[in-house]
Amino acid sequence: MRHILIVGIGSGNPEHLTVQAINALNRADVLFIPTKGAKKADLADVRRDICARYVTNPESRTVEYALPVRRAEGQSYLSGVDEWHAAITAIYEELFSQELGEDGIGAFLVWGDPMLYDSTIRIIERVKASGKVTFDFSVIPGITSVQALCASHKIPLNLVGKPVAITTGRRLNEHFPGLIETAVVMLDGEQAFKAVEDPDATIYWGAYLGTPDEIVISGPVQAVKDRILAARAEARERHGWIMDIYLLQKGTDFDDEAGSNSRKNV
Ligand SMILES: C[S@@+](CC[C@H](N)C(=O)[O-])C[C@H]1O[C@@H](n2cnc3c(N)ncnc32)[C@H](O)[C@@H]1O
Repeated sequence: MRHILIVGIGSGNPEHLTVQAINALNRADVLFIPTKGAKKADLADVRRDICARYVTNPESRTVEYALPVRRAEGQSYLSGVDEWHAAITAIYEELFSQELGEDGIGAFLVWGDPMLYDSTIRIIERVKASGKVTFDFSVIPGITSVQALCASHKIPLNLVGKPVAITTGRRLNEHFPGLIETAVVMLDGEQAFKAVEDPDATIYWGAYLGTPDEIVISGPVQAVKDRILAARAEARERHGWIMDIYLLQKGTDFDDEAGSNSRKNV
């Protein structure tokens, strides 16, 4: 039976690849690489670089495919995503039947880890459910941008014994600063941190993490937000695209009874 490997490749630094990921890429007959747009071109280059660096299987080949762009206008966010996933499902069905033999192994190189704000697993499930092509699949974990952010700032993710929310810019105000002390924000086109007025909130921001263009800025939100906005705008203009993530936090370790009661649960 065909087998699909969904391989987490880390968040920009080729050295993020795990030994498990390298071994998986070397099992594949076909490495599928998405292309399209300026950002996708740079990200496709990272994937090509990873293949050139680590794939030693002389029998394998890469197949590039154009990823459709999600239609944002004229429908709700969720129907837009559903329509987009349906289009990608059709592309995957075609790729699997055209490019893989009955027992062929294909691999997708997924940015970061496939479980975090990525729909490859969801779409592969959808292809499987359609029943047009028979296959099985496995998931290989990777280093997420959340881990890359914390490593670059040399910080732990959570305050001692306290929870963390991972959310998007659109929904940040549902969690932080009212409900939770630590929020990680991804996929934020609006720079939602601009609206955070809490004087005790600290931000740890990072763009192009793990790449030679990495930028990190941290400090009290009120003191550094203009610097982040300026650095972000300048970098976005220069590269033509940006990928950034940030962690917002208020409070400190051991700053309340609940925290000190759960010291053993770091
Ligand atoms: C579609 S999600 C993919 C997340 C990915 N699966 C992961 O494990 O990190 C893309 C978002 O991840 C974040 N991101 C991914 N790589 C990044 C990087 N190298 N630097 C900064 N942010 C990054 C950004 O918030 C971006 O908008």
